[in-house]
Amino acid sequence: MKKIFITGALGQIGSELTIKLRNIYGTDNVIATDIRKNDSEAAQSGPFEVVDVTDTKTMIETARKYEADTIIHMAALLSATAEKNPVFAWNLNMGGLMNALESARELKAQFFTPSSIGAFGPSTPKDQTPQDTIQRPTTMYGVNKVAGELLADYYYHKFGVDTRGLRFPGLISYVTPPGGGTTDYAVEIYYEAIKNGRYTSYIDKGTYMDMMYMPDALNAIIDLMEADSSKLIHRNSFNVTAMSFEPEEIAAEIRNSIPGFEISYDVDPARQQIADSWPNSIDATAAKEEWGFKAEYDLEKMTIDMLEKLKK
Ligand code: SER
Repeated sequence: MKKIFITGALGQIGSELTIKLRNIYGTDNVIATDIRKNDSEAAQSGPFEVVDVTDTKTMIETARKYEADTIIHMAALLSATAEKNPVFAWNLNMGGLMNALESARELKAQFFTPSSIGAFGPSTPKDQTPQDTIQRPTTMYGVNKVAGELLADYYYHKFGVDTRGLRFPGLISYVTPPGGGTTDYAVEIYYEAIKNGRYTSYIDKGTYMDMMYMPDALNAIIDLMEADSSKLIHRNSFNVTAMSFEPEEIAAEIRNSIPGFEISYDVDPARQQIADSWPNSIDATAAKEEWGFKAEYDLEKMTIDMLEKLKK
């Protein structure tokens, strides 16, 4: 990774990834792009270009202008938003991915895009979901993620593009909030705990989902991209996870810092249905064995850090 081109650079992952990559690889070597510019550090601290990922010509030309040797494609709609507007989700998620892969092929660039626990569905084994298993998701987001995994593998086999991906769980961070995901409750709960000492969850008690703290997710992207290609048996995409919990467990953990914290429930049937179709916990053995994946934050360590950072 010497010249890194990022789409969706102002999103939940992209905004922090851009800064981290600039610190490691040099400010001018990380080109942030998004559909619009804002005042954030990612937009202001180095090269930035407005790029609509559905616009093939602009994307390829911009990546070429900077002589990108790495394309990190982050622009996509999350699960709950995609379910509200499935045709738009298909066009953005698949059209954007296709353009990003084509850019990588033209520039002979290395390629990363995230998949998700959303690539699994109700017929997938729910506990310790294996790396290679049934993938019949019932959401548009999941359909996009499975098609995306296949497409990225196709570009590797057919055109020799060095494509790599991670099946991320819900990602938790105190910097840029997620928008329109099913796992967002696990971020909102910390903000509300600090502001109001209470949280009404749209995900029901007893619903287990995998999660990871953002610093671990960023390290996982970099470690995978820097991994020796010959060691990778899998490519698109690796199961990664740091913890699995349900709302009562995260609430109990928050109570260790904020004793009076209360959780109540007003379940959103749409997002609950998505959550119910996803695994309870996934198995990250392949990622550990093939490129040394590890996560540093468990629920306790993440909660202490989240609350401390958010209080500031
Ligand atoms: N956080 C994502 C979502 O909930 C999962 O990939 O949509």
